[in-house]
Amino acid sequence: MPKSHDISSLYRTSRQKSTDWYKRASDVLAGKVGHDLRYFEPVPLCIKHGLGARKWDIDNNEYIDFLMGNGALLLGHSHKDVLQAITQAMDRGTHFGNDHPLHIEWAELVQRLVPSAERVRFVNSGTEATLLAIRLARAFTGKNKLLRFEGHFHGWHDAVIHDFQPPFGADGSLGVPPNVRENTLTLPDGDLEAVAKMLDHEKDVAAVIIEPSGASWGRVPIESVFLDGLRNITEQHGVMLIFDEVITGFRFSAGGAQELYNILPDLTCLAKIVAGGMPGGAVVGRDDIMALFDHTGDSKHDRFERVTHFGTFNGTPLSAAAGIAVLQQVATGTPIKKANLKAQKLRTSWGKVLQKHNVAGYVYGCCSTFHIYFETDQDRLGNISKSVDLRTTDPKRLKGMPIQLVNQYQLLLRYHGVDNMSSTGGVLSAVHTGQDIKDATEVFEKTVLTLLEEGQIYTL
Ligand SMILES: Cc1ncc(COP(=O)(O)O)c(C=O)c1O
Repeated sequence: MPKSHDISSLYRTSRQKSTDWYKRASDVLAGKVGHDLRYFEPVPLCIKHGLGARKWDIDNNEYIDFLMGNGALLLGHSHKDVLQAITQAMDRGTHFGNDHPLHIEWAELVQRLVPSAERVRFVNSGTEATLLAIRLARAFTGKNKLLRFEGHFHGWHDAVIHDFQPPFGADGSLGVPPNVRENTLTLPDGDLEAVAKMLDHEKDVAAVIIEPSGASWGRVPIESVFLDGLRNITEQHGVMLIFDEVITGFRFSAGGAQELYNILPDLTCLAKIVAGGMPGGAVVGRDDIMALFDHTGDSKHDRFERVTHFGTFNGTPLSAAAGIAVLQQVATGTPIKKANLKAQKLRTSWGKVLQKHNVAGYVYGCCSTFHIYFETDQDRLGNISKSVDLRTTDPKRLKGMPIQLVNQYQLLLRYHGVDNMSSTGGVLSAVHTGQDIKDATEVFEKTVLTLLEEGQIYTL
């Protein structure tokens, strides 16, 4: 079996066309790619088509796909019902800038499925959804600060860019004015006492925002009792609770994590699956908060007492059509059940690979997601006996595996034909098959063996 340093050149050799396109990209695309997570050396993936649970790059290398359009494709690539819905909508025009029946039908479906969705406002992405939800919370409460949790990802706008990746406390990006920090409070999740203390002390908090899966779609898991407690504390303090269900929405259940855990947030952010693989997102929530969008005809009210929100492509026909096609299937419960079963199977099979080779690490995840953690902390490795559970909920560990390991892991998986969602985990769809899991497990085992040989990961 080739070692990982050889794999880098083999990888490049089998990606000649991708390399040529990457050269062109380097001359035209800022940062050489279109999204920070797509950046990958020696060559990023350059995909030409996808079908079901697989996709192919322009060099014809095939991948079992656990990225699934960054989590947007619950029904897999090129699902015929989705394509048909888009094509039918397209025949009537791609974009009006006006409202239209599909927009309203789409909102009705979201309202029916998501427990907190008394009213719906569409946007174009998850980032826009969290931006707008925070503005609504500030407008409704008349307060300014946002409480967020270490490691939780809420998109890339200023208010949420700090503290989603270690080292927490360091800025998440250049270019964010220092006063953003003045309006942002960050805590580790899981500690209700700390939240209560903070809200007792800080009287200017408009909202608490959280990924109800735990940070980064469950890479750092949390207990649902924390969400329950958060609901109680925020209610007591008149602070808005925002669930960022950009990934969990229509994935953890038809009504998202809020339905799975039976907890009603004030506002919810949706994107990805909501738009059926097309660009789109939504903010949904309590009628009295969402009424801040309403016009009354009173000029003073309409100019000064509303939340202002524009957006050329809000609720655009092709996204609405795709969203409706997918949400109708989500409503049956079948796609989620299928995706969950396959993910369970994958977690079990990959876990067995780690056990078989006595690897210090574990596989975990909820619903149709999976994550891998490899233990590399020499102190912990030295102290851990085989019977001791390696599990941790420390975001600095779970989101802080050595970058070199993460890159090699990703390179090996891709070389052998598997593409993950982010560095270490992925999502499954309703169309992943038993064969996909079997093939992906073989790839995972080859990857683990090479990483062991290279001394990148450790045995117990
Ligand atoms: C939980 C969560 N919130 C917000 C976002 C941002 O969504 P978008 O990439 O559509 O802007 C993401 C993206 O992955 C996400 O996972």
